[in-house]
Amino acid sequence: MTTTTPKRYTVTAALPYANGPVHIGHLAGVYLPADIYVRYLRLQNRDVKFICGSDEHGVPITIRAKKEGITPQQAVDKYHELIKKSFADFNISFDIYDRTSSKIHHETAADFFLKLYNDGKFIEQTTQQYYDEKAQQFLADRYIVGTCPKCGNENAYGDQCESCGTSLNATDLINPKSTLSGAVPVMRETKHWYLPLNEYEPWLREWIVEGHKGDWKPNVYGQCKSWIDQGLQPRAVTRDLDWGVPVPVEGAEGKVLYVWFDAPIGYISATKALTDDWEKYWKDEETKLVHFIGKDNIVFHCIIFPSMLKAHGDYILADNVPANEFLNLEGDKISTSRNWAVWLHEYLEAFPGKGDVLRYALAANMPETKDNDFTWKDYQARNNNELLAILGNFINRAVVLTQKYYEAAVPARGELTDYDKQVLEVLEGMPMVIATYIERYRFRDALAELMNLARLGNKYLADTEPWKLIKTDEERVKTIMNIALQISGSLAILMEPFLPESATKLRNMLNLALGNSWADAGAADLLKEGHVIGKPELLFEKVEDAAVEAQVQKLLDTKKANEAANAVVAPAKEDITFDEFSKMDIRIGTILAAEKVAKTKKLLKLTIDTGIDQRTVVSGIAEFFNPEEIVGQQVSILVNLAPREIKGITSQGMILMAENADGSLAFVQPSKSIKNGGTVS
Ligand code: MF3
Ligand code: ZN
Repeated sequence: MTTTTPKRYTVTAALPYANGPVHIGHLAGVYLPADIYVRYLRLQNRDVKFICGSDEHGVPITIRAKKEGITPQQAVDKYHELIKKSFADFNISFDIYDRTSSKIHHETAADFFLKLYNDGKFIEQTTQQYYDEKAQQFLADRYIVGTCPKCGNENAYGDQCESCGTSLNATDLINPKSTLSGAVPVMRETKHWYLPLNEYEPWLREWIVEGHKGDWKPNVYGQCKSWIDQGLQPRAVTRDLDWGVPVPVEGAEGKVLYVWFDAPIGYISATKALTDDWEKYWKDEETKLVHFIGKDNIVFHCIIFPSMLKAHGDYILADNVPANEFLNLEGDKISTSRNWAVWLHEYLEAFPGKGDVLRYALAANMPETKDNDFTWKDYQARNNNELLAILGNFINRAVVLTQKYYEAAVPARGELTDYDKQVLEVLEGMPMVIATYIERYRFRDALAELMNLARLGNKYLADTEPWKLIKTDEERVKTIMNIALQISGSLAILMEPFLPESATKLRNMLNLALGNSWADAGAADLLKEGHVIGKPELLFEKVEDAAVEAQVQKLLDTKKANEAANAVVAPAKEDITFDEFSKMDIRIGTILAAEKVAKTKKLLKLTIDTGIDQRTVVSGIAEFFNPEEIVGQQVSILVNLAPREIKGITSQGMILMAENADGSLAFVQPSKSIKNGGTVS
């Protein structure tokens, strides 16, 4: 743990797989906390590089490309751009957003491997690996599913069980199956290089279990300790695959570096691509390295990558790995395959200009210590009751009244009351309070304190009521408005890490010089007497019920579509004889007239030309058909069903209907026009 201020910072955010767009879970779990942290460091004038990029190798990419019928390169090109844009739209302020398909990365990763190879850090091993005879290829871990030996999840992958988080080897799986062809894989010989993690165990124990007790988050520390306690195994760092960084040694044709070997090296390559000065961000002990990741990445960033760096020898190690837990959506696990997500690019289409609102709702609800749930109701409440009612309202009052009473010039403070002094004292202490939380990766607490400052400002104005006092005590109002403006100025600085767009707006509104830094916040004279502020502008606007209801409806539709897609077909009924079947007299008829049966929701009264006669049939299809639109259509009708009385109407027969998985109905119709009375058999 660093106790003094480090000389510089290297902050990384997990490289997202370029195999799909990014959603609120990504933002809340990784990129938003990283961005808050980095923006804060910059306001403190610290030397920091914020590194990210697309993870473009590995089986997740090849699976996606296959699904979309495009090449892996086409897939990563498409998603890299989409992801990059989403991050930019939410003002995630990377110094570089690179990609691992770049030349510089291929070289860096290959060199890294070669160094370890030449230094004898790998074990070379020929083993039996799963091979899919149908697809004629070795099966990467992600192409094998089976039952997790730990928790019994039947859909565990060959490298990890997503149910219990255990990191696995494909051979650990019970009942393995190839996802390429569905075949049961067979064993075949292949040679690979392994990093003997077991040899790093004592060192890892010392570095993490002893060295980072208390300063790493309990969820991160606990996971690491449990892995180390269970004993580590050599880990293959190469794969039989045709997509990735080729293994740069002889006798390795058709093999690439394991994606989890090359991807974290991507942090280094991206820094190289960013600056010629890259080495001091990776090799100087006075640099503080922080990895922001989600909890499913802990083993790779705390055990495997550090062991690689240690084996290499030239690099610094992470000072902290503040991994978050997961964010759920409306009570359900976010899932790309089930489309259960709020996609960042879709959010901005529905709520243009409201990037900060989502940042706020997610930061306030960040899954720092446990999984959390995002709901649209909470989103709306955060905006309407907090951003708008507290922060926005306070700023608006302060700016509007200053315009009105003083032609926008900051009035002078007179004698201070105890209340004034108290408020200024809280203001003065606030930057330190918030900074301390941020430096400990407690972003929710930091944000809560920021809002407490706005709340204090709001309460101060509500208690002192300058809009009333102006009639009786003009001098006192000057003091009050001066203090309100100092709070506003500090808010503009302190809110920047969380709400960058609104902070810029507010700074412009206050004519606050751009160079302001964290150290300026809290001052009682941030806005000097006589300083002229700008025009009031609304920082936030109300999120209406209809807007969030539309989002909830969209999710309900998704749920319905998923249910329909997963619906199980009813099992076959018991056998009947041909005689039993032929008792039914089914004919083709035409609908001559249709009308709703009064006082019912579901019933239509139909007049059908059956070829035999014209008759009335009452049918429970009103929810799915418009009476006007079905007149003239041909239908199949069971004509010898005994007549029944329905709502006072005698129904003679039954229209055959086909039912869809979602419960919707369709007529069973002949594929070409049939003369009325034609038989169905
Ligand atoms: N692509 C990985 C994921 O989304 C994260 C890679 S992080 C890195 O889970 F360190 F490997 F880059
Ligand atoms: Zn499991």
